[in-house]
Amino acid sequence: MPDAFRTNAAGHLEIDGCDVVDLAAEFGAPFWVISESTIRANYRRLRDAFRRVYPATDVLYATKANPQPAIIAACLAEGALVDAVTLGHLRLIERAGGAPDRIVFNGNSKTEAELRYALERRVGVINVDSLEEMELLATLQPRTASPPQRVCLRVAVDNARLRAEDEQLAKAEWLGKFGMDPLDALAAAAVALGHPGFDLAGLHNHLGFTVYNTPYSPSLDMLRHERCVEQTLEVARDIRAEHGHRLAILNMGGGYRVGNPEGYGPGRLTEFPTADDYAMAVGGTAKELCAEWDLGTPRLILEAGGYLVTDAVALVARVGLAKTRRSGDETRRWAYVENTSAYHFVRRLMFRFHHEVVAANRMNDATDTRVSIAGPICADDDLAAEILLPALRRGDLLAILDNGSYCEAVTSDYCAVPIPPAVMVSDGRAALTRRRETVDDLVARFDVPAWLA
Ligand SMILES: Cc1ncc(COP(=O)(O)O)c(C=O)c1O
Repeated sequence: MPDAFRTNAAGHLEIDGCDVVDLAAEFGAPFWVISESTIRANYRRLRDAFRRVYPATDVLYATKANPQPAIIAACLAEGALVDAVTLGHLRLIERAGGAPDRIVFNGNSKTEAELRYALERRVGVINVDSLEEMELLATLQPRTASPPQRVCLRVAVDNARLRAEDEQLAKAEWLGKFGMDPLDALAAAAVALGHPGFDLAGLHNHLGFTVYNTPYSPSLDMLRHERCVEQTLEVARDIRAEHGHRLAILNMGGGYRVGNPEGYGPGRLTEFPTADDYAMAVGGTAKELCAEWDLGTPRLILEAGGYLVTDAVALVARVGLAKTRRSGDETRRWAYVENTSAYHFVRRLMFRFHHEVVAANRMNDATDTRVSIAGPICADDDLAAEILLPALRRGDLLAILDNGSYCEAVTSDYCAVPIPPAVMVSDGRAALTRRRETVDDLVARFDVPAWLA
């Protein structure tokens, strides 16, 4: 667990100086608890590791990992840039107090209205995903616009070459929907360079967390990041050769993780690259190739989502009913949590992610009982399978760890289970940052046609 998570004198889980049992009494379980200090520590660790290797590095918080304004505000307070993929994200960033020039606008399916909104507010950078998007932008932006809008072009890596080197990754990249091939990137560069309302600032790529349906090892992960940098800089080299234009930004996206030694992710991975490893793979490769290919020193942007927030958030749930099932010599214990399930962190359902679970009110008790944890959904919704915990009792509180990225962000209210609230904790203080959805809220969303009412 991160440093801010500890067992206090009462034997309870304490996060950022707040006793989780007290939080449950105040806010009611289930709820997500967000450790502000962990987000800040993660941000600093990644930034510092990269700046040691590549001093001109900026860390951006990838809002999609968890778009809570409180989290965005904590990242902004550290000096982070933030990205948005939709108008909703842009508005949540505004809610967090983020100035437009701190925003990088990402996405492959931006609407004309979203592009106008971004241009009018002068966001820091628009990452353009396709030639058609660049051409559309060029019709929306006045040629007299000043200062010019900075754009980066998202490139897809060259699959034909990758296929020979790394079949798994090449397939994933080829099936992926993002980015332009080098030919379109060159054409989009010509559009941007030919329009005085744009500043062709750089290139963008995003490899992502490379564990979905692909083999994973820390060294393979780093190799993939290295190749991604190499292939992106090849496009920078082509743009310089064809247009004589040197790029100011190299945005290499995200895909970094803080590992949990007890296991995290599909297959319960325990080994992850460190921040220094990532810095060498991405920053080190960029430094070497920029020097070798005379590309100057572009600012390196990292779009870190999971790295900043995964281990900073736990979902706290209360144990209700339980049962033991027997079949021949085998027994299987189930403990059920109330009003939450894996549907509140859907990645478990999609990829069988493992999330460590601790008994937050009994941290010192022996973990000697094998149990599976599930919720009330009429489908498989287990939060954990066959894990060791103290023999659970009704009313116990469980903290499901590593719940910060792509959990609340992709939550579902399947079976009409309301979305839990979230509480940010910091230095012994706690504040509600997402209000509890009630069953009344949920019901009020719907209507019945007059002819059936
Ligand atoms: C363009 C882009 N940047 C950054 C991220 C963040 O990725 P991660 O959370 O793996 O760091 C994503 C995630 O989907 C993304 O699509």
